[in-house]
Amino acid sequence: MIPLQFNVSLKPYNTLAVDVEAKIFCAVSTVDELQQVLQSHRNESLLILGGGSNLVLTSNFDGLVVHNRICGVDVLEETEASVLLQVGAGENWDDLVVACVGRGWFGLENLSWIPGSVGAAPIQNIGAYGVELKDVLVQVETVQLSDLSRHVFTREQCRFDYRDSVFKREQKGRQVIVAVRLRLSKAPRLKLDYGEIRKNAEHWGYDCTNMTPVDVREIIIRTRSEKLPDPAHLPNVGSFFKNPVVSRAQFEKIRSTDPDVVAYQQEDGVKLAAGWLVDQMGFKGKRLGQAKVHDRQALVLVNEGSDSKDVMVLAHQIQKSVRDRWGVELEIEPSIV
Ligand code: EPU
Repeated sequence: MIPLQFNVSLKPYNTLAVDVEAKIFCAVSTVDELQQVLQSHRNESLLILGGGSNLVLTSNFDGLVVHNRICGVDVLEETEASVLLQVGAGENWDDLVVACVGRGWFGLENLSWIPGSVGAAPIQNIGAYGVELKDVLVQVETVQLSDLSRHVFTREQCRFDYRDSVFKREQKGRQVIVAVRLRLSKAPRLKLDYGEIRKNAEHWGYDCTNMTPVDVREIIIRTRSEKLPDPAHLPNVGSFFKNPVVSRAQFEKIRSTDPDVVAYQQEDGVKLAAGWLVDQMGFKGKRLGQAKVHDRQALVLVNEGSDSKDVMVLAHQIQKSVRDRWGVELEIEPSIV
């Protein structure tokens, strides 16, 4: 029997440090345990918690919260060129990155220092500095909630997109991710051409023609920490909004009044830097009750309270202000529960 706990504070389990309670709480370390607990609580609402780093809890959870601690990192296949890894969903993402860069494997270094668990990574296709999880992911293994059967989603079936996957759409709330398979390269595959990375690397004395994944990790962490607050000190969920994609016509209209708008051409339109939009509206460093816009990155909201009310009010103010000024809709990126 898996030990259950009742009326448990979820504060230690979410990086926004929201202090709400779960009616029932348990931790599972194997797929069997997960299936058992799901079988015996079929009628409860369910919340699967990984690292809780992309989650805004807005009230007590009147159901079952399962903390996924299904761990393990196994090398399934190793050739001269690459390794194939099987990783339990409950592993901490950045511990995995540390282990892989330490062995000289390339692929995860640009995704250094992202909070959260391995199992949460495919849901939003985590990305940073020109790399997304989809670039290394081979498959995702799940337990399907309707019948507790095990399934495999190939990379194509995951339908990855910018901060998006099938697990946020058609399969939302239908699958529990229990493992992922990743292919990493043993030969250098450096991606340094995003934003300020190469410039920072040179400035900090690295030789960009000859870098190990550990070097890249150091540069990424240094770059990230200049802007992004550490959730251990300033509770946050990373970017609170997605970078919106607008039509070319809408972009041209915005550029005619705001020639400095930061934008990236996409196949289906133009992606705008949400941080820039929010910053332009004067929100950087702005406080509302116990919520605050981070003073070095306008895309990050910091929570100083024990609930998420002020954070949500501030988020809605930001959305309204960007909508009123440019007609652009900012989509909230973390899950609201
Ligand atoms: N900008 C401002 N003011 C700000 C913030 C940004 O003017 O307060 C401008 C910057 O000058 C820059 C542009 O906006 O020209 C883009 O900013 P940045 O490079 O900081 O990246 P981002 O688009 O804000 C995205 C991801 C981050 C990821 C970084 C690096 C999203 C929503 N966010 O941020 O991901 O770490 O790129 O790749 O796509 C996350 O998903 O939680 C996250 C942190």
